[in-house]
Order: sequence, then structure tokens, then C-alpha cells
Amino acid sequence: MTLDTTQLNRERVFFETGQTLWLFGYGSLIWKAEFPFHERRPAHIEGWTRRFWQGSHDHRGTPEAPGRVATLVESSGACCQGMAYRIDADTLAPLDVREKNGYLRERITLHFHDGSHAEGLIYLATADNAAYLGHAPLDQMARQIATAEGPSGTNRDYLLNLAAALEDLGAEDSHVFELAERVTRLP
Ligand code: SIN
Repeated sequence: MTLDTTQLNRERVFFETGQTLWLFGYGSLIWKAEFPFHERRPAHIEGWTRRFWQGSHDHRGTPEAPGRVATLVESSGACCQGMAYRIDADTLAPLDVREKNGYLRERITLHFHDGSHAEGLIYLATADNAAYLGHAPLDQMARQIATAEGPSGTNRDYLLNLAAALEDLGAEDSHVFELAERVTRLP
């Protein structure tokens, strides 16, 4: 069962229309930027950590066999590396559709490598959304990711593309790297 967040997100207008805004990507938005942007800069956010705790019924799995994709959980002192995109506000409409399976627009402070910061947006899937799966042992999550597949492709590719993108960024993320290692070891 999924809850489509598209309409909810259209009402979550935190920035003036007609201006550009920063979007922080921490999952597929790092490596699959199929949307127009003015500039792209590596960035991080503080107090959040990436976890494969969100179910995917529409991209990397199906309602019968959901995949697992990235969301963020609050974690004091944590730092999550990702990619910031400066986009037109209009670009959010198709992104709302792409992220409709439980993700909500939220305001966040982005930190850039030069020490500057900016207010921006993330798409966040919290524990109260219908597609949320939450914590499971890494081996169990790896088995689920190794077998799930949906209209956007395999769950395995989502994970391995994210791990490769994080490596390119020089990011630390033991959760993602350990999951990727387990998935590649599975037959
Ligand atoms: C994101 O990448 O920032 C959100 C989650 C996803 O689309 O994978």
C-alpha cells in the first residue's frame, strides 16, 4: 500500500516561485540527475544519516516485492555527504512525481566545501509514511536489495550506483558501503 505525496508536496512551498533554490540529493538524486539545474556542487548536511529504510514500490520494487531505497534518519553529530543542485522552483513539480512514494519536501541547511552554507530542500521519507520499512539486519536488507526490481530498474543498481557516486565524492558511509559489499557477494 502506498501513499502518493505529490499533492502534499505541491502545498509545501518554502521558497519563492520564480527564484532558484538549492536541492540536496543524498540517494538517486546524486547519481541520476535527470532534471535541469543551473549548477551542481558537492555538499553535506548535519545531524542526519543515510539509511536504506524506505520501501520502493514504484521505482526499484513493486507493491508485492518492494525494494529498499535511501532516506535520512536524525542522528546527532552525523554528517551526510551528497550533491546540491541549484534549480528553478518549477523543476520541483516533476521531482514531486519522481519522489511520490512517501517523500516530503523539507527545509534543510546545506554546507558547501568552501565553508559557506545555504538554506535548501531535501525529499525526506519519515517513519510515518506508508512505504517505510525501517531497520532490518544488513544481511536481510542485502538479500531484499539483491532480488528487488521495479519500473526504474534493479534495486541492486540503485545501491551500487549510489556507492560508486559516494566513492567519487570521497564520502564516508559505512552503511551504504557495507550493504554494497554484501550485495555484490550474493549470487
Ligand atoms: C534523494 O536522492 O535525495 C532522495 C531519495 C532518492 O530519490 O533516492
